[in-house]
Amino acid sequence: MAIFYIALLLGTSFLLNLSVLSTAAATLNTTQSLRDGNSNTLVSSDGMFELGFFSPGSSKNRYLGIWYSNIPVQTVIWVANRDVPLTNSSGNLKVTPQGVLVLLNHNGTIIWSTNASRPARNPVAMLLDSGNLVVKDEGDNNPENFLWQSFDYPTDTEMAEMKFGKNLVTGLDRYYQSWKSPDDPARGNITYRLDPSGYPEIYVIRDSRIMYRSGPWNGMRFSGTPHLKPNPVFTFDFVFNDEEIYYIYRMVNKSTRSRLLVSPAGDIQRFMWIERTSSWLLYSTANTDNCERYKLCGAFGSCDINNSPVCSCLKGFVPKNPRAWNMVDWSDGCVRKTKLNCSGDGFIKYSGMKLPETRNSWYSRTMTLEECRDMCLKNCSCTAYANLDARGGGSGCLLWFDELIDIRIFIENEPDIYIRVAASDLDGNGDEKTDSKDAIRRRTWIILSSVLSAGFLLLALAFIFYICRRRQQKDGKMGGIPETTSDSKSKEDDLELPLFDLATLASATNNFSNTNKLGQGGFGPVYKGTLKNGQEIAVKRLSKNSRQGIGEFKNEVKHIVKLQHRNLVKLLGCCIEADEKMLVYEFMPNKSLDFFIFDETQGKLLDWPMRYSIINGVARGILYLHQDSRLRIVHRDLKASNVLLDYEMNPKISDFGLARSFGENVTEANTNKVVGTYGYISPEYAMDGLYSIKSDVFSFGVLVLEIVSGKRNRGFHHPEHHLNLLGHAWRLFTEGRTLELVAESLVESCDFTKVVRSIHIGLLCVQEIPEDRPSMSNVVLMMGSEGALPVPKQPGFFTERDIEENSTSTQNKPYSANECSITLLEAR
Ligand SMILES: *[C@@H]1O[C@H](CO)[C@@H](O)[C@H](O)[C@H]1NC(C)=O
Ligand SMILES: *[C@@H]1O[C@H](CO)[C@@H](O)[C@H](O)[C@H]1NC(C)=O
Ligand SMILES: *[C@@H]1O[C@H](CO)[C@@H](O)[C@H](O)[C@H]1NC(C)=O
Ligand SMILES: *[C@@H]1O[C@H](CO)[C@@H](O)[C@H](O)[C@H]1NC(C)=O
Ligand SMILES: *[C@@H]1O[C@H](CO)[C@@H](O)[C@H](O)[C@H]1NC(C)=O
Ligand SMILES: *[C@@H]1O[C@H](CO)[C@@H](O)[C@H](O)[C@H]1NC(C)=O
Ligand SMILES: *[C@@H]1O[C@H](CO)[C@@H](O)[C@H](O)[C@H]1NC(C)=O
Ligand SMILES: *[C@@H]1O[C@H](CO)[C@@H](O)[C@H](O)[C@H]1NC(C)=O
Repeated sequence: MAIFYIALLLGTSFLLNLSVLSTAAATLNTTQSLRDGNSNTLVSSDGMFELGFFSPGSSKNRYLGIWYSNIPVQTVIWVANRDVPLTNSSGNLKVTPQGVLVLLNHNGTIIWSTNASRPARNPVAMLLDSGNLVVKDEGDNNPENFLWQSFDYPTDTEMAEMKFGKNLVTGLDRYYQSWKSPDDPARGNITYRLDPSGYPEIYVIRDSRIMYRSGPWNGMRFSGTPHLKPNPVFTFDFVFNDEEIYYIYRMVNKSTRSRLLVSPAGDIQRFMWIERTSSWLLYSTANTDNCERYKLCGAFGSCDINNSPVCSCLKGFVPKNPRAWNMVDWSDGCVRKTKLNCSGDGFIKYSGMKLPETRNSWYSRTMTLEECRDMCLKNCSCTAYANLDARGGGSGCLLWFDELIDIRIFIENEPDIYIRVAASDLDGNGDEKTDSKDAIRRRTWIILSSVLSAGFLLLALAFIFYICRRRQQKDGKMGGIPETTSDSKSKEDDLELPLFDLATLASATNNFSNTNKLGQGGFGPVYKGTLKNGQEIAVKRLSKNSRQGIGEFKNEVKHIVKLQHRNLVKLLGCCIEADEKMLVYEFMPNKSLDFFIFDETQGKLLDWPMRYSIINGVARGILYLHQDSRLRIVHRDLKASNVLLDYEMNPKISDFGLARSFGENVTEANTNKVVGTYGYISPEYAMDGLYSIKSDVFSFGVLVLEIVSGKRNRGFHHPEHHLNLLGHAWRLFTEGRTLELVAESLVESCDFTKVVRSIHIGLLCVQEIPEDRPSMSNVVLMMGSEGALPVPKQPGFFTERDIEENSTSTQNKPYSANECSITLLEAR
């Protein structure tokens, strides 16, 4: 509506007699216009900033914006029409006689405009040296009198001298909102905003969920930003009075280019331009580590990034839900050991803490700490008090009521806070000295134990390596001599082992062309081929860096060929020529299981009865490998992509037996693939290198949970906690919500008893201790019967790595011992 109104005000005569601005002007008056396509720009007097039209990233759309001029990297700090792009370079910016900036498109429609706070006299638009675009009366440079300024309507960038916060008189709220993406300046999901309720704080909000808060201003800085200290680069201040609340920073040297960006990913990043390298330096990021996550530890919990796990309850408090707490889901927080007794309570003093959220706080600027304490004691729902301003020994009073939320421990000396506990929980040693000693002792232990376990792991790995070398040497001595002679001798032996020659396989696979490539397995690429007789085959070309002798290879293959089971992929033969070693399998037309279960549309093709029969089939296949075949083979790399499907969707396990023949001899670089796959690997194998049939049982359990849930264990995310699929399943199971795990596409077709039973068995298979896991014969028995099942214990590896995608937060994670081993294995 406002737009039409302005259009009326403009009148047609005004739109006609306009002159186009010269290439780079200082001001724009009512008889001039800034047109796209003429490369007109408005430039600040010091030449630092430029206003004009631009296209962001790879977008073709045109926007009116302000950027740093004279630097080679396009750095836009403000966008006018962020939500209303121009589709071609026909944009036109004007100032009306009323002092309104209007942006017109090709047919003269106003697509964006400002509004004036009062009648204007000969208005002009001008870009100031600070990067602020203002509309003012010509000659009047008093900021109080500006008709309009872009600093009041920021986009995603906080600049020096910009007020960030709220004018309590006019209601003007200046906050930042990220771009949608680097190609689209439209309003994204992240806002960075000052919340004036209670005692003000700054929040980062994604959609409507709080991600981070700054902590209240303590007179020197925000209590959650200990790194924000007096420095030679910029000064900063927080103004809070009856008229306005805002934060502001100023550069010490005004010619230093700096900006604070709210990125589409949710990072709050301060950049400085470095002239010498001609690039932006990421000077600091506001919300980097785990403990910055809003409310990570729940009510009355506190986060210490140097601790493992990071969350603990405040003194006098215990976890509300101990089971979830021990499974590193801290969201339920802590509760008092002893209920408050209003009159006889006391306070525990804490130093170096990010103060709890102050949205519901009460404050007084004049009260002393003693008055503050008395006031808190008098009100039964008051839970903590502190000085409002920590400068000069402290002054003022800040009171918290009910739950204390989002606390973290810093090492830096932050002002003290006094937290209320029942008298009986004030056990005399509430002073910080014991506190910090405890913390140091804890930290030392953690560091020591992680060093020890890493060291132990290395030792274990070295030992395994040594054994392998020994075996290899031994095998070499015994097998090395007959190599040449055995070739002729083995000709007879090899009667049962069909040998293909290289030429046949080359022609069948189109000379191993890329179009025939089906995929890349742990041991090498797999090609589809068609033999002369029309039979379809899959050819696995083994990596050349396997150092296994030919005799040994043949021997292994001969054994594997004998393995015949309807749930194992059939090995048809092999090829050994030059330095090539290849295995020839029956071809499986329906690809592998992962192709179906992890894909929403493909997943619909596999209903519950089919999945149930797949689970049963895989179980029988493994049982055969473990028990019924005379070789007692441990697969070691069981996973969805190693379960192939035939025309009738019968599961066939592939890559069996290979681990046995190849696992110990491949080169270091390949080891991670052969050793196992993250997400399926059992703890004892990952940690101690011990593998047994129970390691396969673990992988099978993971597979079952994946088949039922349609989710990968690796990379599993859940908004409510940091557990992986195993932890999530276990949590649902223990809470009696097992059915919530079932994939949506299965709900219609599933038989609830069987689904729950399958999940139950899956959980039994992924138990942490190998001895607790059932054997495959037991699994097959349990699948086929209806008897009672044992209660599963906690699964192994039930936490996912830190879910933060943020690469800056790779350090300091809970359960570093677990992760350490995985990383070691992967990095080898
Ligand atoms: C606008 O600026 C131009 C160039 O400086 C000048 O010729 C013109 O008279 C100005 N118009 C107004 C209304 O001040
Ligand atoms: C921009 O597009 C409109 C139609 O969408 C067209 O009428 C106009 O001529 C175009 N202007 C330029 C400068 O390409
Ligand atoms: C001007 O162009 C826009 C977009 O092309 C169109 O939606 C609008 O109806 C046009 N207005 C007039 C008055 O032609
Ligand atoms: C300015 O315009 C916006 C919408 O374009 C409106 O919400 C706001 O109230 C206006 N402010 C004034 C001071 O008129
Ligand atoms: C922003 O939020 C919307 C709706 O919640 C979501 O669809 C979209 O993926 C989000 N975008 C980003 C970049 O996170
Ligand atoms: C400010 O920075 C500029 C360029 O970076 C430099 O030339 C100038 O000497 C600096 N001024 C002061 C007062 O340090
Ligand atoms: C509260 O504490 C005081 C002092 O310890 C004690 O005298 C009183 O009995 C307690 N009241 C209740 C209800 O427990
Ligand atoms: C305690 O403080 C809360 C919050 O300020 C207030 O709503 C309540 O009335 C107070 N109770 C008493 C007894 O003063």
